[in-house]
Amino acid sequence: MAMDSAKLILGGKEFELPVTTGSEGEIGLGIKSLRAETGAITLDSGYANTGSCESAITFIDGEKGIMRYRGYSIEDLCEHAIFPEVCYLLVFGSLPSTEELETFVHDLTHHSLIHEDMKKFFEGYPPNAPPMSVLSTIAASLSAYYPVNDDPAISELNIIRLLAKLKTIAAFAYKKSIGQAYVYPRNDLSYAGDFLHMMFAVPSEDYELDPLIERTLDLLLILHADHEQNCSTATVRMVGSSDANLFSSISAGISALSGHLHGGANVAVIKMLNMIREDGGNIRKYMEMAKDKSSNFRLMGFGHRVYKNFDPRANVIKSANDRILSELGTEDPLLDIAKELERMALEDEYFVSRKLYPNVDFYSGLLYRAMGIPTNMFTVMFALGRLPGWIAQWIEMKNDPRKRIYRPRQIYTGSLSRPVVPLADR
Ligand code: SDX
Repeated sequence: MAMDSAKLILGGKEFELPVTTGSEGEIGLGIKSLRAETGAITLDSGYANTGSCESAITFIDGEKGIMRYRGYSIEDLCEHAIFPEVCYLLVFGSLPSTEELETFVHDLTHHSLIHEDMKKFFEGYPPNAPPMSVLSTIAASLSAYYPVNDDPAISELNIIRLLAKLKTIAAFAYKKSIGQAYVYPRNDLSYAGDFLHMMFAVPSEDYELDPLIERTLDLLLILHADHEQNCSTATVRMVGSSDANLFSSISAGISALSGHLHGGANVAVIKMLNMIREDGGNIRKYMEMAKDKSSNFRLMGFGHRVYKNFDPRANVIKSANDRILSELGTEDPLLDIAKELERMALEDEYFVSRKLYPNVDFYSGLLYRAMGIPTNMFTVMFALGRLPGWIAQWIEMKNDPRKRIYRPRQIYTGSLSRPVVPLADR
């Protein structure tokens, strides 16, 4: 049956709601004039059922475990593309030709230095400064060095600058936190290779890039590159809707991602697996805690607002874990615990009935560990991957002719009108 119209009956009156149908058949009920016509608003905590925009960037089918960037499946892109190609696809809307990719990679490579004065920011932080806080702050500071205006050439150059420099800022933040000298970007390395070199090279030794680690990082960056209207992306759109500049909008997205319910989950998963290991591998105990609401404990890396079958990214990362660890010839006891935890949860009514499956964060931390990335940098890796998606979504929002500043309504439940009693009489 066609779903091209909808009626709302409120107070005995009928109201017609316009219907928008997406290219994948998704149905959206238009409520733009709802309050004007009915005096009522919709109420949807966490926007679980509310669409904030129409978007042509990423499509997710949570029931079928489908995820596509601009129509290309994530599995296909992981197989056939490199991260800079996916950055180009998300930001410009199509896969680049060989020449377009060469020019794009050249630009990313030659804009990866940061202004020497920016190093002073790092000096002000204590060694244990949370890397995501450092990343968010310095990302916002880029607008102090690179003028922001509506000139399309400047806007495109700032996109290149941000994509090129955020990995340098991330690596410099790491080096500062361990008291080592900064390692500058190199123009002869790939995006992933250059980041690994800036993270792990030390002036006194030759650093040999492991192609397996380089390719694995590139894969993880692709898997994290966009995910439609998740918390941090919605934040980037919301901040950008006030006409804040790109750097400030991305800084806000980095802050939103840092929460352990979102991008911070990859760190929380490792903490949880270590807790289970140190507790004698008693997985059942932690599963029962996760089912007990009073425990305030959740299985980190499990569950998703959209995926109610499986997160296709988790599947790709899980198989990459097996492959990488065997090629590296390393064992990780936490991987065995993770697999057993997944197996038990997928047989447990509590998780099955709530459709709680491993998400992208469940296995990604184990892969970062295998690559030698320190735990406190896991969410930074997520941010580096998500950056092209944030940028693409920000651009789409800015170019939307119907764009309006984000300003949700509320239902007030506080005190009714009352007079102020003078302090002396209170
Ligand atoms: C990311 O949105 C995106 O796309 C995000 C992301 C991206 O690429 O941008 O995919 C990245 O953020 C992945 C999610 C990483 N976070 C975690 O792994 C943290 C643990 N997961 C949960 O906190 C939770 O599942 C969320 C935050 C992911 C989703 O939260 P929802 O959709 O608001 O779900 P909910 O809190 O309403 O839970 C529904 C039910 C509740 O039980 P009941 O009230 O129905 O009895 O499921 C339970 C929850 O208690 N539940 C869990 C659980 N997740 C949900 N119970 C135990 N362990 C969990 N992990």
